[in-house]
Amino acid sequence: MPGTHVSGIDDGVVLVDYKAAAALDAVPRTCCSGLESPQLPVLIDQLLGELHAAFKAEKDAGYVIDNNQDPVSFKRLNQRVQELLKIYATSNPGDWRRFALFNDLHYVRNLVEANDDFELIVLCWKGGQVSRVHNHAASHCWLAVLDGEMREIQYQRIDPVVDGDEKPGDVVHVEVSKSTDMQLGDVGYINDHLALHSVGCYLSPEELPERIALNSRAGRNGWQLEGSVTLHLYSPPIRRVKIYEDDTVTERTPGYYSKGGVRV
Ligand SMILES: [Fe+2]
Repeated sequence: MPGTHVSGIDDGVVLVDYKAAAALDAVPRTCCSGLESPQLPVLIDQLLGELHAAFKAEKDAGYVIDNNQDPVSFKRLNQRVQELLKIYATSNPGDWRRFALFNDLHYVRNLVEANDDFELIVLCWKGGQVSRVHNHAASHCWLAVLDGEMREIQYQRIDPVVDGDEKPGDVVHVEVSKSTDMQLGDVGYINDHLALHSVGCYLSPEELPERIALNSRAGRNGWQLEGSVTLHLYSPPIRRVKIYEDDTVTERTPGYYSKGGVRV
């Protein structure tokens, strides 16, 4: 399928080295063992190793991972994933930079890794670049801010339709139900039972340089690059996404701007 990827295809995607992940587990670490801040940056390969372990534990226990997951299993997984993403984002790793490709015209999705359980993607947003209102199919969606500032706006359908039952061309009205400003290290979660959403860097291209300079003078983290950067984890990987625009539903296959740091 164009624009999607499953691990095992050698096209530049960073695949998990399970032996390395196992070796990592044998090494005393300063990270990922709790909510405390690590003393050293947590690297993205460490994050991937811990994510694999968390998903494997649920699958080995017989749970199906999607947005209809067993509540006890989901609570455990959600807590762990949010903890890991927060630890990674706030440990100031910087190694996500090799995945952080921007585009002047629109936000872009840069694939870190995709496998049967999840896809991990670095999204890059210049000032004023915002996603359209969209769903997440049957998947869980976690996101963490790695750099800059973001805003998530959630929407609810105001038509008497069954969630997720819309077909392309259907008329569906949505209204804003919640708006959340997010800073470096903030972690969010959404699925189709909760809401639809759009996310983006709402600062204008004119405001952005001022904000970067202000943060730099204040010695604050964030705004290391020319826009905002977010880390998204979708589980299972999303193959088709619905867009809600002009009161009409359309459907598309999400693609990638780069894989493993290499432009596709
Ligand atoms: Fe989303």
